[in-house]
Amino acid sequence: MKILITGASSGIGEALARLYATKDNELFLLARREERLQELQNELAPLTKKTEIIVCDVADFDKLQRKMRELLDVDVVILNAGISLGHSLEITPFTEFKKLYDVNVLSNHAILEVLLPKFLEKKSGKIVFISSLASLLSMPSSKVYSSSKRALNAYAEGLRYKYKNDGIKVVNILPGFIKSEMTDKNSFKMPFLLSTEAGAKRIYDAIEWEKRFYPFPLRFYCIIKLLNLLPQFLRDKIINSLIKRT
Ligand SMILES: NC(=O)c1ccc[n+]([C@@H]2O[C@H](COP(=O)([O-])OP(=O)(O)OC[C@H]3O[C@@H](n4cnc5c(N)ncnc54)[C@H](OP(=O)(O)O)[C@@H]3O)[C@@H](O)[C@H]2O)c1
Repeated sequence: MKILITGASSGIGEALARLYATKDNELFLLARREERLQELQNELAPLTKKTEIIVCDVADFDKLQRKMRELLDVDVVILNAGISLGHSLEITPFTEFKKLYDVNVLSNHAILEVLLPKFLEKKSGKIVFISSLASLLSMPSSKVYSSSKRALNAYAEGLRYKYKNDGIKVVNILPGFIKSEMTDKNSFKMPFLLSTEAGAKRIYDAIEWEKRFYPFPLRFYCIIKLLNLLPQFLRDKIINSLIKRT
């Protein structure tokens, strides 16, 4: 299989690359940090059919689409590159808001605009979104990040319905907290935090099982789901009291 992973230079993407490193697979690992990608390529090339790196800022849409056109064939694309803004209660500067949306949302369509016609032509392909449980509950300090991941959910859902008869699978993964460079910056207590490897394995299995919508860990998801089932006034009361305590 030919697998493209964005955001492969650290955290979940790097751990996923290791899980996909078998003799049957060709890996295409994309991120900005060339040295990190090269180290990973040196480690994984002997274990895989081929490991290529693509050094690219996903917010540089022209370069990103050029790189995608150069890829002759891909079977699975894992849209994992993402950023958070840190947890701030200040008014988000417009440039930071835009950067987050460029990376977390628009870059995925820049990639798919090129890859989707190829998937349609061969009537197969798997598109994997790495959304977040944060998409289901927006807190004041993470509203921009949460909104970007909620946008991904809607986009993934629409794509799944659109291409259901075209051999294209759309998998949307909503992880809770997983140890990574992103979560290392968080100073608050992260409930149900998983190790990078455990989190990546859950994601890997969900991709193999072609889960349409895969929120995890289950206990964390159930708490959020229950909150979302409450009448709005009660949900707001509980969430406002949580916010006061943090
Ligand atoms: N960790 C969690 O608890 C958690 C939970 C839910 C969802 N997620 C999602 O999981 C994904 C991976 O995050 P992570 O936790 O593994 O964090 P991470 O270790 O910070 O990894 C983020 C990856 O994205 C890449 N990236 C960031 N900006 C980029 C850009 N402009 N162009 C190209 N690549 C870029 C980074 O590579 P370079 O810096 O080298 O470019 C890095 O490889 C993100 O989409 C995140 O929102 C994480």
